[in-house]
Amino acid sequence: MAFQEGETVYLEDANGKRVWAKVAYGMVKVQSLGAIDGTRFRDLDDGDRLTIVGREYTVFRPGVTELMDSLERGAQIISPKDAATILMHCDVKCGDRVIEVGAGSGGLTTALLHAVAPEGRVHTLELKEENAHRAGRNVARVGLDRYWSYAIGDAREMDPGVDWQADVLTMDMPDPWLALPNLEGSLRAGGRICAYVPNMNQVESIVVALREAGYSDVHALENIQRYLEVHPGGVRPSFDTLGHTGYLVFGRKRSGKKE
Ligand SMILES: C[S@@+](CC[C@H](N)C(=O)[O-])C[C@H]1O[C@@H](n2cnc3c(N)ncnc32)[C@H](O)[C@@H]1O
Repeated sequence: MAFQEGETVYLEDANGKRVWAKVAYGMVKVQSLGAIDGTRFRDLDDGDRLTIVGREYTVFRPGVTELMDSLERGAQIISPKDAATILMHCDVKCGDRVIEVGAGSGGLTTALLHAVAPEGRVHTLELKEENAHRAGRNVARVGLDRYWSYAIGDAREMDPGVDWQADVLTMDMPDPWLALPNLEGSLRAGGRICAYVPNMNQVESIVVALREAGYSDVHALENIQRYLEVHPGGVRPSFDTLGHTGYLVFGRKRSGKKE
């Protein structure tokens, strides 16, 4: 299907450099390239090529990884590799209801929304209004804002402000074990939890808290991903490989019921 007005697309040059544009059938501002005649997008589809001032670009519809990589940044985002692991380990799918702590820049929010839309929703608890607003701009840019809500406050003590129980609770905050007692009533029995923390001592605290609270399948892991430089006759790990990002801790809630 040809590109539609309002769609966000990226144009990639021969060196893999990307610039972003919002499609309109009038004049379109293409990041760092100036304005071009937007009616040119009307005849183009995903992966088609376009020449602008003598340079060739391929126009793509972004997937969730490109969207996350191009967010307006404030707080450090959860990387796509870690977000992907969260989606799998927490079994996040279309229709799920998710409570997220820590909007940050909306990185994980974007990945969660992408997975739960259009039937589900994500509700984010965030301490700082400024961060919630930045995350809001980012999710609006990718058209997922109608599935998102947020509340400002401290997740360790605030009323989450939803009248439903979540299938999944994610916490990207420094002391998730202190928010657990306040939030676990908002997670349904059988629901899944993920805490994302940068340091080992935080892993220990949240694992202990989850075990003491009776969670099942409590496990912690680190994701190491190595990109490869591939050249004829020379294939080796990239020097740019992202090192440590964070540790992921998972668990699953038991109900209080016993036969
Ligand atoms: C590292 S950032 C989250 C990044 C986000 N996951 C992303 O991918 O863009 C952590 C966020 O948690 C928020 N935060 C920290 N402590 C909190 C608390 N007690 N309650 C609610 N939010 C909190 C911070 O203000 C910050 O926005």
